[in-house]
Amino acid sequence: MAKSMQGVKVCDHPLVQHKLTLMRDKDTPTATFRALLREISMLLCYEVTRDLELERVEIETPVAAMTANKVAGKKLVFAPILRAGVGLLDGMLDLVPSARVAHIGLYRDPKTLTAVEYYFKAPSDLAERMIIVIDPMLATAGTAVAAVERLKERGANNIRLVCLVAAPEGVEHFRANHPDVPIWTASVDEKLNDHGYIVPGLGDAGDRLFGTR
Ligand code: PRP
Ligand code: URA
Repeated sequence: MAKSMQGVKVCDHPLVQHKLTLMRDKDTPTATFRALLREISMLLCYEVTRDLELERVEIETPVAAMTANKVAGKKLVFAPILRAGVGLLDGMLDLVPSARVAHIGLYRDPKTLTAVEYYFKAPSDLAERMIIVIDPMLATAGTAVAAVERLKERGANNIRLVCLVAAPEGVEHFRANHPDVPIWTASVDEKLNDHGYIVPGLGDAGDRLFGTR
């Protein structure tokens, strides 16, 4: 990780930046886009979990007894925002297979740009776990703000947000509403356009991921 603004960590790892460039290219086909998102999700997962607390446990190797490190506390929760957040889920579960999953169904109304909820299912003990909200795009941030509000209503108090591309307007809006929730991203782009799309961005992440349009 290199660049850092208040509460925002931009992952400048060369592999992340390379893969993101391939994803941005309008000619990248659906299957490749999907594979790249999964690959990047592993690298972002590595970064967002970098400071997880460890505990010391006694084990026996085939050679000797030792005290070794293990991740402490309850299992993580990954919270993909449907649909596009699902594209980041499997890569993260590859790294943290025992994580729990909270599905948050929200879409952005194309006219009003406000978030509309249609599904929510999460573990009941959110208050005792770290929740990592995942969505490739943070544009106006209306969706991410609503998702985090919903998780907080259900008791969550240790939340992080991972996105692939963020708009400066979205970062500001999100941090103003949830200053306790840090953001990990691969890029903070230039701006939003009149339709609320990130510029230069990568287009509609859900459509590119699932081949709808
Ligand atoms: C996209 C994206 C975010 C949201 C970002 O989802 O995956 O959830 O827009 O926009 P915002 O920051 O302005 O709220 P979309 O609503 O297109 O739904 P989808 O994932 O089902 O395609
Ligand atoms: N949602 C997307 O998928 N892309 C954008 O640029 C903005 C919102």
